[in-house]
Amino acid sequence: MELDLERLPRHVAIIMDGNGRWAMQRMRNRIFGHKKGADAVRSVVTCCRELGIRYLTLYAFSKENWNRPKREVKALWGLLEKYLKSELPELIENHIQFRHIGDDDGIPASVLEQLRICEDKTANFGELVLSLALNYGGRQEITRAAKLFLADMMNGGHGAGQLCAEHFSRYLYTAGHPDPDLVIRTGGEIRVSNFLLWQIAYAELYFTEILWPDFGKADFIEALKEFQSRERRFGRTGEQVRERQGVSGDCSVKSTDIAQVRAGDKRCIPMGLIANPKS
Ligand code: FPP
Repeated sequence: MELDLERLPRHVAIIMDGNGRWAMQRMRNRIFGHKKGADAVRSVVTCCRELGIRYLTLYAFSKENWNRPKREVKALWGLLEKYLKSELPELIENHIQFRHIGDDDGIPASVLEQLRICEDKTANFGELVLSLALNYGGRQEITRAAKLFLADMMNGGHGAGQLCAEHFSRYLYTAGHPDPDLVIRTGGEIRVSNFLLWQIAYAELYFTEILWPDFGKADFIEALKEFQSRERRFGRTGEQVRERQGVSGDCSVKSTDIAQVRAGDKRCIPMGLIANPKS
């Protein structure tokens, strides 16, 4: 099966797992695996850029990763800082917009500074939006969004009756981004590990045994092909979907699909106040 360039996902999200095991298999320490993992990041970003995939979100450090040995945590933040510095010229040259999603609190100050620099210097680009989930947790993101919604309500911005799924999404880190169409997890585990819990409601999930440092362009293309072989129904019948595909030939999520999935949200009305996604 050939990759159909007309039917690519708009947004791919990746849980990059297996760096540690990759290193251990080579009698090296886990940090070595993370370094090799950074090379795999480069190749997937380039591939998205070449194919014209518009959004790529990578899970690089979860809220739970703080439980790792101190030495590994320190090395991971060091590696991330170095990577952000070294990749900034590439991001600029390739018109890639960089975003951090996750909690700023707890991130080492020097990394935070580098994140802000990368975000500021690439804010006007849009050919590819690369979001790095750092100090991120899906449940934490949802509770944070609920707090922001309540704060707006207390300030008179809206009433409780205005809460609906679409409105609520505007309080997430990913406000304004389409939901992922495809989630890839490498490293053989079959779980989502607190990643984009709200946003992946209708994503296709792809799991592979390949350890992240070994995940290359060909593997990424394989995942895209598998995505294209799936029938995305959004609650419709298979016949309805095939009729619609005959018209558009596209299998990424459309706002009309989401609107219909959320058709029960009759009370959803536009709001005036939009939460600051980074506050
Ligand atoms: C999971 O592998 C990987 C991480 C917790 C960190 C992800 C970091 C990278 C891919 C490298 C740096 C990233 C960037 C953006 C430069 P694991 O350690 O859990 O592997 P294991 O399951 O084999 O132990």
